Amino acid sequence: MKYYILFGPPGAGKGTQAATMTSKYNLRHVSTGELLRAEIAQGTPLGKQAKVLIDAGQLVPDEVVEGMIASLFDTVKDVDGFLLDGFPRTIAQAQALDKMLQERNAQVTSVVSLMIPDETIFERIRGRAAIEGRADDASDATISNRIATYHEKTEPLIEYYRAAGKYAEIDGLGTIEQVRERISALLDSLK
Ligand code: AP5
Ligand code: MG
Repeated sequence: MKYYILFGPPGAGKGTQAATMTSKYNLRHVSTGELLRAEIAQGTPLGKQAKVLIDAGQLVPDEVVEGMIASLFDTVKDVDGFLLDGFPRTIAQAQALDKMLQERNAQVTSVVSLMIPDETIFERIRGRAAIEGRADDASDATISNRIATYHEKTEPLIEYYRAAGKYAEIDGLGTIEQVRERISALLDSLK
């Protein structure tokens, strides 16, 4: 099994570009944000706990998302691998992922990182707020907190995966089509 990570700040285009990778490699797209929003929509206890944190632009506890990921690794069988979007998001989650994969005689295949500056994060998320109605897109304060959380907790993963020789970065600016072409070219070069 292959284990790709689609990395990047909020609004970088991870969800938008995921299909480029899933179709090329027959991967299951796993967005921890989408899984959590499904729990919120269903009103589960986990969803209720997560909503408070997500609406504040904070992360949910590491154990919560780690449990979701482990259970998918154990149950999804009809694919050649996984495309992780929004996970890992802390060094602790990256270490937990390494351990989960080690236990399955596997490892992270590659990290594909989409990079955009903070101003573009704001523009894109404000644009999406009007279309999708995500609660955590609705206020500038929440968007600012998500950006701050990214810089503080998630950005350190760049060094973590660079040190492991698994980090590849793509300019996330430009049209959706231009970014798609850059991802395709990168994937071809990784083969
Ligand atoms: P999550 O759902 O992962 O949100 P995020 O990381 O903030 O990322 P987004 O989904 O906002 O951005 P994206 O990169 O997918 O961009 P998209 O393609 O939609 O997480 C939400 C919350 O859940 C977190 O804040 C946290 O609380 C919690 N959570 C999730 N995972 C967790 C974890 N592992 N641990 C702890 N907590 C966790 O694009 C954005 C917009 O831009 C769209 O409208 C799109 O159409 C547009 N767009 C995309 N590309 C382009 C382009 N090239 N040009 C113009 N517009 C574009
Ligand atoms: Mg997304």
